[in-house]
Amino acid sequence: MITVESVAKRYGDSVVVDDVSLEIPAGGITSIIGPNGAGKSTLLSIVSRLEPMSAGVVTVDGMDVSTTKSPILAKRLAILRQENHLTVRLSVRDLVAFGRFPHSQGRLTKDDVEFVDKALDYMGLTELQDRYIDELSGGQRQRAYVAMVICQDTDYVLLDEPLNNLDMKHSVNMMQHLRRIATELGKTILFVVHDINFASVYSDRMIAMRDGRVIVQGTPEEVMDSRKLAAIYDMYIPIHEIEGERLGIYYWSPALPTAAKLPADYRTEVQVHVSPDHPGEEAVPKTVAELSE
Ligand SMILES: Nc1ncnc2c1ncn2[C@@H]1O[C@H](COP(=O)(O)OP(=O)(O)OP(=O)(O)O)[C@@H](O)[C@H]1O
Ligand SMILES: [Mg+2]
Repeated sequence: MITVESVAKRYGDSVVVDDVSLEIPAGGITSIIGPNGAGKSTLLSIVSRLEPMSAGVVTVDGMDVSTTKSPILAKRLAILRQENHLTVRLSVRDLVAFGRFPHSQGRLTKDDVEFVDKALDYMGLTELQDRYIDELSGGQRQRAYVAMVICQDTDYVLLDEPLNNLDMKHSVNMMQHLRRIATELGKTILFVVHDINFASVYSDRMIAMRDGRVIVQGTPEEVMDSRKLAAIYDMYIPIHEIEGERLGIYYWSPALPTAAKLPADYRTEVQVHVSPDHPGEEAVPKTVAELSE
């Protein structure tokens, strides 16, 4: 289990993570959603000790991350950062093998080699394994970094926007793979994603942040609610149930006519900006309740 107790992060006068307390149970997939600047990456970086916190305590299986020795933490928890820059020229295979370092200290055993082969295969990189990282497309490179993180075989896997740059097929493949390692191998996956529908379909729990705070958390069924999403994103997102999954159709929202489908009891004071009817007109702030009138 990961526990986050009253965690805060300040940069000068600005509070970017504001008194967050959470419990992320072992096993399963938890997604973190929320607008740009909500504090998602900062929270993930704090949990993995990439960033120091200004206040609070984080524990991973009871170990305080502030005091646990790095080699011990590295065997329990791995993280994919939102931005990854390599300063050395590595092949895909060498990058992925680097993920075995906490176990192998540089000398790969037969088991390590097997992990590397599997991770390359899962991420569809076997044929690209001898290419240099800087010779890959954006999505291929993203898959290589995720393979490196998965190769670490840690109980806790933190991924900051793992679907960045991926096409539809690779996004679905990656989510299905994460689902598999959570279900079959009992891994605990915590990932940040902007597409609320991937979060809804693949996670067991969702955490929604805004302005450094956790605004809503719960099962996808609980979080995928137009009212709650309006409070997070300032826009009206109609929810449709398709094949038992709750999906938010946000592409043209909050412009009408989707508002016509708002339930009669829909009431929230959250302001949304309705797209102007004619070019050149100002966007009009309205409450979601006004939209349904
Ligand atoms: N080094 C820094 N100094 C000052 N402010 C920072 C620093 N790093 C991040 N911030 C601010 O902290 C806030 C939270 O940033 P964070 O990267 O956690 O957001 P996020 O939710 O991951 O957003 P995104 O969806 O854009 O990745 C932002 O307002 C950002 O500008
Ligand atoms: Mg981020």
